Amino acid sequence: MKAVVYTKTGGLEVVKQQSVETPLPGDDQVLIEVKACALNVSDYQRFQTKNSKIPISTSLTNKMMGYIGKPLGAEISGIVVKAGRNVTHVKKGDAVFGKTAGSAPAGGLAELALMDKDRVCKKPENFSFEEAATVSISFETALGAVRKANIKSGQKVMIYGASGGVGLYAVQLAKAAGAEVTGVCSTRNTELAKTAGCDKVIDYKKQDFTQSDLKYDVIIGVNGCNPMKQYKSIMKENGIFVGVGNMSQAMKALMASFTSRNFTYYAGAFTKQEDYLQYAKELAETGKLHTYIDKVYSVNETVDAIQYLLTSHASGKVVIKTEF
Ligand SMILES: NC(=O)c1ccc[n+]([C@@H]2O[C@H](COP(=O)([O-])OP(=O)(O)OC[C@H]3O[C@@H](n4cnc5c(N)ncnc54)[C@H](OP(=O)(O)O)[C@@H]3O)[C@@H](O)[C@H]2O)c1
Repeated sequence: MKAVVYTKTGGLEVVKQQSVETPLPGDDQVLIEVKACALNVSDYQRFQTKNSKIPISTSLTNKMMGYIGKPLGAEISGIVVKAGRNVTHVKKGDAVFGKTAGSAPAGGLAELALMDKDRVCKKPENFSFEEAATVSISFETALGAVRKANIKSGQKVMIYGASGGVGLYAVQLAKAAGAEVTGVCSTRNTELAKTAGCDKVIDYKKQDFTQSDLKYDVIIGVNGCNPMKQYKSIMKENGIFVGVGNMSQAMKALMASFTSRNFTYYAGAFTKQEDYLQYAKELAETGKLHTYIDKVYSVNETVDAIQYLLTSHASGKVVIKTEF
């Protein structure tokens, strides 16, 4: 089968369309014909350079996660071609969505891909394949953070990084819980954050978010941009900060949690939300969950799509239509 493979550690020139072996589903897996694949932070972070070089940490991550030689892409939708004998909730011919198989999801940018049975669900009836592909890892991460913060009706909530893949879902989930939501993002995305449900948006390019007249019950920080003390200054006494982000965010929130019970780090994709796909489907079909797609690319334009994510601040998700 054809696939878009990450052939070795390096720049975008290492992304190649190749023929690879068709995977076989185990008893607890399904094989799907992939229709769409949403790009995630794991698909573009590995191409980020420091002083024009790929950092050693990327080579280490590649080794640890086993990314080399595998197709890119982890958030997918498509049609079941074969279901393993222990899979009962979806069957051949069903339109589905979810995450690719394995502990380090990859393999989605291919004609066919494997999904573990607990990571595949019937596609929301009202979502296209492109839309459904965007509701997987980013949604699970946002759901975990909102649950960790235990957001309640009437609370004042800040989502820092409200316009990204995770942030746009966090905004919708916090609004669904009845919170008053302030989003933080850059100028080009303020309208998008409002459309997703933010009652108020702070443009970090124009305004210092700490100069706020509001004190927050909950702050969800969806990146590692700021020192924790900046958040603390705008939190209520019993407020809680939940960090969802890269290693830098993890370390800052973890260190802060030793000295203050206001801080906690939620380990994103590593903390499973068992029901997240079914819950996303229900929300989508009752009109309570919307997807925000910035651009859809063809599979031949994969490098352009990654380049776009590396150089621009995308407004929502970037999706590849997987027609080879
Ligand atoms: N995607 C996932 O499923 C997942 C899972 C686990 C952990 N994470 C982590 O969560 C973080 C966000 O992921 P994502 O997929 O939502 O990323 P994303 O789509 O790139 O969104 C990043 C958000 O942060 C804002 N932002 C970017 N640079 C900023 C800056 N310098 N100052 C203030 N705000 C800034 C962006 O706003 P503007 O674009 O308007 O600047 C946007 O709202 C990443 O660190 C990622 O490693 C993601």
